Amino acid sequence: MSKYLLAIDQGTTSSRAIIFNQALQHIACAQQELTLSYPKPGWVEQNPELLWHSVQHCMLTAIQQAGLSANDIAGIGISNQRETTLIWHKGSGKTLYPAIVWQDRRTSAQCQLLKNAGLEPMLQQKTGLLADPYFSATKLAWLLDNVPHAREQAQRGELCFGTVDCYLLWCLTGGKVHATDASNASRTMLFNIHQQCWDDELLQLFNIPAPLLPQVRDNASHFGQTQSEILGNTIPVLSMIGDQQSALLGQACIEKGMGKSTYGTGCFVVVNTGTQVLNSQHKLLSTVGWRLAGKTTYALEGSIFMAGATVQWLRDKLGIIQHARDTEALARQSNYHQSELLIPAFTGLGAPYWQPGVQAALFGMTRNTGPAQLAAAALCSVAYQSRDLLCAMQQDGISIDSLRVDGGMTANYWFLQALADLSQTPVIRCHTSDATAFGAAFLAALQLGWFNQMADITALWQSDAQFSPGLAANTALALHQRWQRATTALIALNL
Ligand code: G3P
Repeated sequence: MSKYLLAIDQGTTSSRAIIFNQALQHIACAQQELTLSYPKPGWVEQNPELLWHSVQHCMLTAIQQAGLSANDIAGIGISNQRETTLIWHKGSGKTLYPAIVWQDRRTSAQCQLLKNAGLEPMLQQKTGLLADPYFSATKLAWLLDNVPHAREQAQRGELCFGTVDCYLLWCLTGGKVHATDASNASRTMLFNIHQQCWDDELLQLFNIPAPLLPQVRDNASHFGQTQSEILGNTIPVLSMIGDQQSALLGQACIEKGMGKSTYGTGCFVVVNTGTQVLNSQHKLLSTVGWRLAGKTTYALEGSIFMAGATVQWLRDKLGIIQHARDTEALARQSNYHQSELLIPAFTGLGAPYWQPGVQAALFGMTRNTGPAQLAAAALCSVAYQSRDLLCAMQQDGISIDSLRVDGGMTANYWFLQALADLSQTPVIRCHTSDATAFGAAFLAALQLGWFNQMADITALWQSDAQFSPGLAANTALALHQRWQRATTALIALNL
């Protein structure tokens, strides 16, 4: 009998494949970095074929590293970067254009028009989202309007639209299945989160032909079988879930009011709101956490576009570090009281500001400003933004007593202490930085009957490090207020 699971974590800047055993212990992992391209200011694209090849490569490598073969794998779970938008031919499977990545701002003007027309409350009511280029709807409309012949082909039913989960499923099943899951669908701005279906009024508003759309399924279900050529045997795909919702589950936040924050490319604070949609009054998003056996659990989310990506910028564009981990030693040479303050609006600002047009700025430079100050400013900017989100959550009536964290940046102890200090919230790092893959693996295990109920994940979760606020509350408040003044001033500048 096959006794292992393969979880895919397809993120913005890397693909990973992780093998878990029946007790959901981590057995092997393979990772490959991905490049993004920036063809014009504000545009962010990815090569779909390279993305698929990276997933294939990681799956094969992880299986090999574990000393297993495809026959040992009982099922696959997929978690993925959300909102990133692709279209491809039904017949050939060829994509018509690069993937337009969630960080892409090319449809800012269209979103402004939606706001000007007073449509944002209706969008928020139906989808839980705000009129921002972050989501798939305006990206898909842009593709149909700008890729030659795309609209005619879409109207003839010759094309498929999908987010990354859907595209990977299509590739894995050799073009046999065109389906997504409720959590990913809820990030498109075309999906009615109350009725759990594509919304005709929204399809009309964005001028999207319905035949383009994938079928929406529960997060744990039999999505399809992989083609045997890919891994050496057919394997069922048993779960699909957006990466942030997957991390919410991976962090065992299965009760209403429990929340987590994942520090990957971006940072996403997500809180379980139970079976009710909580309509944010403070610019947070309502979203599908997961849907199982037709029953939906909702979540409230605050999304920051640049977390680990800011550290990558220090490495790849400034060249002041060789590895992300180097920021820890550098930041220790400075402190929160330094004059330098980085507003990392490299791809606009997400929650709670929602300013797609604003660009990044560094305030407070002196002759002393160097790599240490830049590293501290980058790490603090993520902590300040996290506090912004926690404040917005509190204003919406959700108070988080402690923050469960995961993701690549949580390897950095200086950052985690800064997060606890500046947000004045105890921070708990989970036993695995792979909470995202863990969530998808758990759903696949549930589908296989290895576990009986969602509550079983609670016993699998452990904390491995805790950080308590060590900074006086009034000092943290004053530092955060300085951050907010600088951010507000930058938005007002609107250069
Ligand atoms: O909404 C975007 C998010 O899903 C991207 O996740 O892991 O690439 O930061 P990540």
